[in-house]
Amino acid sequence: MSQSQVQTDEKKQHFDHIYVADTPVPFKEQILDGLEYVSDNFNRQTFDRLILPWAQQQATAERPLNFVDLAGCFGNTTMATLNGMDFDAIRHNWRSAEAARSIDQPRRFPARTTGIDISANALAYGHAAGLYDETIEVDLNNPAPESQSAVERALSEAEIVISTAALVYLQPEAVKKVIDAFARGGREGYMLVNFLNPFALETADATKRMLLEQLEFVGSMASRHRRMSALEQENYPGEEWSLLEIWVLRRRG
Ligand SMILES: C[S@@+](CC[C@H](N)C(=O)[O-])C[C@H]1O[C@@H](n2cnc3c(N)ncnc32)[C@H](O)[C@@H]1O
Repeated sequence: MSQSQVQTDEKKQHFDHIYVADTPVPFKEQILDGLEYVSDNFNRQTFDRLILPWAQQQATAERPLNFVDLAGCFGNTTMATLNGMDFDAIRHNWRSAEAARSIDQPRRFPARTTGIDISANALAYGHAAGLYDETIEVDLNNPAPESQSAVERALSEAEIVISTAALVYLQPEAVKKVIDAFARGGREGYMLVNFLNPFALETADATKRMLLEQLEFVGSMASRHRRMSALEQENYPGEEWSLLEIWVLRRRG
């Protein structure tokens, strides 16, 4: 992955070198620890309130739910939502490359997971550690046709899609394709997404409008995300924390 492939708000810090590391340890040390990246506590809280009761009722060993983590990186939000791990439990699990090789807590319901990301290393880790059963390596802003088909199939067959701290990286056409593919699915299904503040608010507004055109709004919460880096604090004087809006949407019908 080259720097030019990743799109991000120019006032937001770039962390691309961390996403392509061999292990999640730099992510743990520089993002989770370094920036007090507490967002997964709130992703989990929202998932537990609005999706988990339904998922636990629906999923069986014979009929696991299809679960997609879109731009999921090393799988921290899968650990939070599917395995029920909080910020401290994820940090402890990722304290060393050795400790990170397996996941400390089991899945809370039967699921078939697909990790989608541009980072081959993050996906390889997620697969080896047992977080991702399947992986799709793809630049969602510039996908090869076969990768785009695989992404669209995974999204339309998914009962649960999580995409956190992620849509901000995607161009509007890519976001639209993601939402269209999920909306096409036939079964009851839920999407958990979040929006970072104060970055790229116009883009987030456009994404919200697209989501509401195709999907039914279920619920939301506001929370802390992480501390802003020194560069970001220069770009947004007076702000110390980046904040999150977490939304859950459902397929219509
Ligand atoms: C901040 S991480 C999100 C990790 C996790 N979902 C969370 O909330 O902490 C953003 C992820 O988006 C991925 N990403 C960035 N641009 C992408 C693109 N064009 N296509 C696919 N994935 C991309 C990065 O590789 C990285 O793993």
